[in-house]
Formats: sequence, C-alpha cells, structure tokens
Amino acid sequence: MDNFSSNLLNVYQAAEKNFTKSDISLWLNFGYWENTNQVEKACEKLLDETISQFNIVKGSKILDAGFGFGVQDVYILNKFPECNIVGLNVIDYQVAKANELIQEKNLQEKVLLLKEDVVSTSFANEQFDFVLAVESAFHFYTRENFFKEAYRLLKPGGKIALADCLPQVDFVMDIEFKKAADFMAIPYQNYYEIETYLHKMKNAGFEGIVSRDISNHVLPYAAIEMLASNGWRSSSSIDLNIDPSLIDKLLKDFTKITTIGKYYIITAEKH
Ligand SMILES: C[S@@+](CC[C@H](N)C(=O)[O-])C[C@H]1O[C@@H](n2cnc3c(N)ncnc32)[C@H](O)[C@@H]1O
Repeated sequence: MDNFSSNLLNVYQAAEKNFTKSDISLWLNFGYWENTNQVEKACEKLLDETISQFNIVKGSKILDAGFGFGVQDVYILNKFPECNIVGLNVIDYQVAKANELIQEKNLQEKVLLLKEDVVSTSFANEQFDFVLAVESAFHFYTRENFFKEAYRLLKPGGKIALADCLPQVDFVMDIEFKKAADFMAIPYQNYYEIETYLHKMKNAGFEGIVSRDISNHVLPYAAIEMLASNGWRSSSSIDLNIDPSLIDKLLKDFTKITTIGKYYIITAEKH
C-alpha cells in the first residue's frame, strides 16, 4: 500500500470507533450551519446547498463520489425517489456499513454502492446526469484526475457539484504543513487556491463553473466541534455558547491542525 492510501486508512480507522454509538450521526462532513446547533441538520443542509443546481428528475443517474456511510444517498432518495445512484468509496468498513443501511431501507433497486477509486472507475463514458462529491475531492489522488474522470462519465448537459476543503489564502507548504496534510490524508498535489481549482476544472473541459465561498457557514462550527470532540464527531449537537473572542483562536488552531482554511461549493456543466 502506498503512503497516501495508508494515510487515508488511518484517518478513517481513527474515526471508526466514534461511529458505533447509536446516537451519533453517520454523516462525515463538517456541515453547513444556519439556524441550528444539530449536527444532522447541518450535514443535510450542506448536501442541500451542494445539489441545489441539480434538476433531478425521474430516471436521473447520479454518481456519488465518496459516499461515507451512505446516509446522503438515503437522504437524496427520500427527496427524489425516482432517481438512481451509484456510489463509490475506498474504505471497506464504510462500504459494508453503507450497504447494510441500503438493505435496511430496502433501497437496493435504487442505489449501488461499490468499493472503487473515483479517479479511475470501471464505468463507460457518459453514463451519469450528475456527479456529486461532498467533502471528498480533497482526498482524491488527485483531485485533478477526478475532474477528468467526472467529465468523461457525465453525459453532455450533465452537471458536477462539489463541497470541498481548500487551504487558507497564501498558505506555506513547510514541514509542519506537510505533516498535517499527511494526518488529514490530503495529497500535496491537491493544495492550491480557488483560482487554480477553477482553472483545473476548465482544463478538464467543464463550462459554466461557479464557486461559492461558504467558509463562514462551515469552518467556525467545525472548529467548535473539533474542540468539543477531540477531532471527531462525538455528539449530536454543538454548543454555540462560545465566547466570540475565542472563535478566532479556535479557527486558527483548526487550520493549523487540518490545513483547511477555506470551504467552497463549486458547480459546473459538461456541454
Ligand atoms: C469526509 S468523508 C465525506 C463522506 C460523505 N460525503 C459525507 O458527507 O458524509 C470523505 C469520503 O470520501 C471517501 N474517499 C476518499 N478517497 C476516495 C477515493 N479515491 N474514491 C472514493 N472515495 C474516496 C472516504 O472514504 C470518505 O467516505
């Protein structure tokens, strides 16, 4: 196993034990926080914001790149019961647990969840109407390879949407930063600012590219959650009664530990 794959395994193995308690949400994203202190609500909202440009109709085929525990696929199917989803993930226990959930909800006819790397999939060209990557593309080796693969897999007229983590503006890739990047399983090749990100999408062939900086709705809350839970999700809500003067420090610590300083939703089309 290469270093990068073992970093990824370490990150999610460290998380595994946190997700065995029945009251802990199985969502694995930081959430979009607005008028709530509930983890599940914030995670659902992040998905809603990410797919808001998808006009999902009967028969739409969605590729879910990095499905976590599959809760987002159940959520999408509750809202759009007549679409079909193929999800890909590389972590065995997540694939197994997600498939249990799909069986339990009796959604096997609608969702196929596979263990496959999203940067080199087994699918033929132009299979999907939508490609979705909720807080997963920063892990891919590389994100740029994923852009090319997503473009290949989309039908003409198809759309891509990503909720994604970026470093802070003017980040410095020193030894400490690289250590944190390894800890987060983020390949060094994925570190660039939003302008380069959009340029790489354009190079992959995408058009109508739009980015939205949602850092303020995500990162302060992720920092509060990290402080409360020692890094991983361990409660169903967060305490918002934090002294505002502390938030800046929490955010700085969060960025230092995770390398994440910006958070965007990016959408684009294949013409
Ligand atoms: C932060 S989690 C987000 C999970 C989910 N989207 C959610 O919001 O709950 C990132 C996910 O991407 C998956 N992932 C990372 N690299 C991948 C790859 N190369 N191919 C497929 N999935 C990958 C991880 O296993 C994990 O499930």
